[in-house]
Amino acid sequence: MPVIIDGRAVSAAVRNEIKQDAAEIAAKWRAPSLAVIIVGEDPASQVYVRNKHKACAECGITSFQYELPADTAQKELLSLIAKLNYDPDVDGILCQLPLPAHLDEQAVIDAIRPDKDVDAFHPENTGRIMTGDYAFLPCTPAGIMELLRRYEIGVEGKRVVIIGRSNIVGKPMALLSINARATVTVCNKATPDLPSVTRQADILIAAVGKPGVVTADMVREGAVVIDVGVNRLPDGTLCGDVDYAAVAPKASYITPVPGGVGPMTITMLLKNTVAAARNHMKKGDL
Ligand code: GUN
Repeated sequence: MPVIIDGRAVSAAVRNEIKQDAAEIAAKWRAPSLAVIIVGEDPASQVYVRNKHKACAECGITSFQYELPADTAQKELLSLIAKLNYDPDVDGILCQLPLPAHLDEQAVIDAIRPDKDVDAFHPENTGRIMTGDYAFLPCTPAGIMELLRRYEIGVEGKRVVIIGRSNIVGKPMALLSINARATVTVCNKATPDLPSVTRQADILIAAVGKPGVVTADMVREGAVVIDVGVNRLPDGTLCGDVDYAAVAPKASYITPVPGGVGPMTITMLLKNTVAAARNHMKKGDL
């Protein structure tokens, strides 16, 4: 049977380090801080945002909440971001996605000051991932890299196959894997004969958002399987993209859902927020 990668345990260890970092900054300057914007009442987003505030509080990061109604105009949202961009009490700004359909998500991302963009979604920050010269990494791919590091799973020289080409997970995950000298394939809906591609993976990363996408026949014996999916089944239970019961016996390492990648995502957000604060403290330019 595989080693089950314990995202909660790794997350707790990393959060401990973050807490010490945050305390050090608070002692010299002020506590690191995060502004979270949520537009509308999407229940899943509300849960995520609540968890982000809770995690901030546990690590000594001040967090502010801005709740805007679902019919908020683009102009209003952008003017809130402009205000936060120049607020000296704010190190990080996060606008919870998805936004209501009438709002232009990319324009909102583009409006966040890059040195406060703790999601690392701004084109300046996504571009910097490519060159390897970055201040922040996007939270989910960074969390996956951290899990691999802590379990001493080498990436150099491995075949990494990623299912899903999203801007938030698939594409940045590919860049981080390339930077770590892996041989990388990114699959999407149009990939012909997906199982023949995924069977080549030493490290298989599923980031689709659909339960049961990865079946046992798609996984090579001994592969590392990373499940980024967070799917709610009709009976309310949470599951990933991987058919866990069937795939686990073939894997050498596997992340469960919940308790695998999920906890790491928020942890990396906290890490980015502390990094932003440290940068602002050094520059003294807020
Ligand atoms: N919605 C789902 N995941 C994320 C995330 O990491 N950041 C933001 N801002 N919104 C999200």
